[in-house]
Amino acid sequence: MSLPDYIDEIKKFLVEDGFPEQIDAAVILGSGLGGFGDEIEQADSIPYADIPSFPQSTVEGHSGSLIVGEIEGKSVLAFSGRFHHYEGYAFAKTVLPVQLAKAFEVDKLIISNAAGGINLRYRVGDLMIIDGIIKQFFMVSEPALHTWDSNFEAYAQEVKTIARDLNIETQMGTYLFAKGPHYESKAEIRAFRKMGADAVGMSTAPELTEAAKLGVKAAAISLITNAAAGVTDQKLDHSEVKEAADQKKHVFARLVKGLIREF
Ligand code: 6GU
Repeated sequence: MSLPDYIDEIKKFLVEDGFPEQIDAAVILGSGLGGFGDEIEQADSIPYADIPSFPQSTVEGHSGSLIVGEIEGKSVLAFSGRFHHYEGYAFAKTVLPVQLAKAFEVDKLIISNAAGGINLRYRVGDLMIIDGIIKQFFMVSEPALHTWDSNFEAYAQEVKTIARDLNIETQMGTYLFAKGPHYESKAEIRAFRKMGADAVGMSTAPELTEAAKLGVKAAAISLITNAAAGVTDQKLDHSEVKEAADQKKHVFARLVKGLIREF
């Protein structure tokens, strides 16, 4: 599976800027989780805007910068700010972080996101390890979302074990990829629950698919930042996402560090 030419050009630019040729692990930081960048030692960061051919992230709570540095002795590439299809990017562009991680030969990729809880047992602030993805029914012909064989479920089990060893409570569940940009109706959420979805969000599925295509070992974690429509009688509000992320950022950081070490 070959990478687009612009990936080589971006890597070349970054290496000239001082990035190493090879990096151990990559992390994609979801909405409100960009603060994890502060955990990176000897960090060097470059705004997406300064990287040629790099799409710009426009969502509030996504600062849009690429960070390189070290965590627990491993070199790490962190994407603070991701590219959502609903922002207007082609799916092929939304997976650029995964392709760049591959170009730097990472042997593990940790994907995080903010998601709405559908499972009635879930609470705001829960961390959900993704062990299943539902995405087919929105856009059957989208190649970036075509199912690809991977060891995804086995990887989720590995993450669960690492979390347990760290005494971090996690949920394990199915993530439903919604195209967005709008949140769902109550009836849609009821339907999604019947389909077997535990959480809903607007990212991660394309990135996991790309990782499987490229043979990159990937784990994905959702932070439940709010209840999806109709789960509680509260109205949805984007500020909840930031609040839940702020409260959970230390546990999230501990889990991600554990994964960088052990996954
Ligand atoms: Cl409720 N829906 C979607 N599509 N994305 C979300 C969400 C809900 N909560 C956080 N992200």
